[in-house]
Amino acid sequence: MKITVVGAGNVGATCADILAYKEVANEVVLVDIKENFAEGKALDIWQKSPVDLYDTRTIGSTNDYSKTAGSEVVVITSGLPRKPGMSRDDLISTNAGIVKSVTENVVKYSPEASIIIVSNPLDVMTYQAHIASKLPRTKVMGMAGILDTARYRAFIAEKLNVSPKDIQAVLMGGHGDTMVPLPRYTTIGGIPLTELMDKETIDQIVERTKFGGGELVKLLGTSAWYAPGSASAQMAEAIVKDQKRVFPVCVQLDGEYGIKNCYLGTPVILGKNGIEKIIELDLTADEMALLKASEGHVREVMEVLDKMS
Ligand code: LAC
Repeated sequence: MKITVVGAGNVGATCADILAYKEVANEVVLVDIKENFAEGKALDIWQKSPVDLYDTRTIGSTNDYSKTAGSEVVVITSGLPRKPGMSRDDLISTNAGIVKSVTENVVKYSPEASIIIVSNPLDVMTYQAHIASKLPRTKVMGMAGILDTARYRAFIAEKLNVSPKDIQAVLMGGHGDTMVPLPRYTTIGGIPLTELMDKETIDQIVERTKFGGGELVKLLGTSAWYAPGSASAQMAEAIVKDQKRVFPVCVQLDGEYGIKNCYLGTPVILGKNGIEKIIELDLTADEMALLKASEGHVREVMEVLDKMS
């Protein structure tokens, strides 16, 4: 069983490392355009295997996609990350072309693969990959919801001084400032968040979550990688192990929530066929209004992409 990660930068290398460390697949192929870079990262991860005790083979490749042939899952992290002061949408002109050509190469060698997009602007790069791949929408998805929800859960854990393991949450919408956290669906060991935290504190955490990526960009001078790398590895694992996990994932909506042909985060079931089910929550009018606002924002950026091609 093989998983490919395209882009051996911080997010891609972290994802490949976790996939190997957790022995999610027998083989992890890391691809990058920069000469010898993926080979170096793959070799470094392989040389860690006797210490950390795993036997997943890690193979690096400089843009030779024949090495990725027959992958069950391909994670695409290619493209530029944000610099301070940039929004994710500012990356579209550089990353759209990269994601298009990477997707075409991936599909040529792994026509059955599920594709997980991590490149930004996330929702619109998922759109780009969906068009370029010509695959059904169930096979092309974006990783944002797990990351955004993880940030939200981590903030709650810190505030309540409880284990992050016990916090369950779901978050919808685009991967940006218009994301839609849903405190009504957040629980701590089964107890609704609203019973343990006052509204003002919840609102503060929701706001911090919305700008969670930007907070990291300010601190690091580039975008985050540990949490994004782990979150994408978790999606790949759910697919290759047919775990039927319930995660918030970016997918093309086709009538769900009354939204058609827009790429937004929604809870789904992930298994060997990719997105096996889109779960439609019964949103309140306020939540629906936030989702609609998020849709409007993603559509604007989708239109920028349409005009580029
Ligand atoms: C973030 C980037 C990966 O949110 O979008 O950190």
